Amino acid sequence: MPQYQVSTPQRTYSVVVERGGISRLPEFLPPRSGKIFVVTTADVWELHGSHLQAALGSHDYATLFFAGSEENKRMSHVETLAEQMSDGGADRSSLVIAFGGGIVNDLGGFLAAIYMRGIPVIQIPTTLLAQVDASVGGKTGANLTTGKNLIGAFHQPLAVLIDPAVLSTLPEREFNAGLYEIIKTGVIASEPLFRLLASGRDEVLAQRHHIVDHVIAESVRIKAEVVSSDERESGLRRILNFGHTFGHSLEAETQYKRFLHGEAVSWGMRAATYLAHELEMLPPEDHFSILNVLDRYGPIPSVAGISAEALAARLVKDKKTIQQKIHFVLPTKIGEVIVRSDITLDQATRAIARALGDCQ
Ligand code: GLY
Repeated sequence: MPQYQVSTPQRTYSVVVERGGISRLPEFLPPRSGKIFVVTTADVWELHGSHLQAALGSHDYATLFFAGSEENKRMSHVETLAEQMSDGGADRSSLVIAFGGGIVNDLGGFLAAIYMRGIPVIQIPTTLLAQVDASVGGKTGANLTTGKNLIGAFHQPLAVLIDPAVLSTLPEREFNAGLYEIIKTGVIASEPLFRLLASGRDEVLAQRHHIVDHVIAESVRIKAEVVSSDERESGLRRILNFGHTFGHSLEAETQYKRFLHGEAVSWGMRAATYLAHELEMLPPEDHFSILNVLDRYGPIPSVAGISAEALAARLVKDKKTIQQKIHFVLPTKIGEVIVRSDITLDQATRAIARALGDCQ
């Protein structure tokens, strides 16, 4: 099964995509690793903890539980976990395993980034979204009341172990929401991946192993390449934000309650596609193909009651807006995108209105 390398100035590490891949943990533990702290949720531990316990064998470890929700992804919880580590005998030779979905990946990674000024972390993601996005690339962080992920650090893991078998217990809505990040990867960087998602839609949604494992592996391969060429998001890494600028405005406007992140990204990709179409950057057949694939993997919850103007106002406040310039990742054809920062608010608002019209 595939294994990819992420090479950044901070660290070079492997990302394994393999059914049963959790059992490969011992290969990636440093030879003289001290006590291990597994940051996880009660649900994930109950469902999949036995696999990790088996992989840990006789290694000294403790399990730290965290109620994984956006409300709890806060500095106060990082501090609580750090106190628990300290009470549990953590030192500079200790290691964190972040075992859960994206929130656990981000918070566990952040804990490792700042505990004693930084100890290693191994990421073992258990949701599709975390497997294809959050766990790879070293972004870690927590929320402030004023916005998501406003504090954090780049802290590359020692390894990422992606085991598609754990997805069998994921609620269908969460699985489908993760697929939108894979569609995103196809649009930004791989026409073959996009075409496979289009032609293999029924098999993907039926969670056939051969195709699910393949599209996960392709997404991870591409993300590993992007992060390897731009760890800090000063250039190429921005392409991973396709659909996210618009999507974040929808998530924020609905207080992160109505849409899963992947669903908001799906809507955001729709808005970005309309914007590219209006700017005559995207061939009409590609415009229709993207909207068609998003429809066929949908629907997302209704956007009823949300105004285009309110969402446009949120774009300006997005954390990626720098000196009032909003950066939009826009497709020029399937498999290629460019970043534009010369879009007027009127143009963005028209694209938002069209995307809202599709999802009532
Ligand atoms: N989720 C986007 C990135 O990792 O850069």
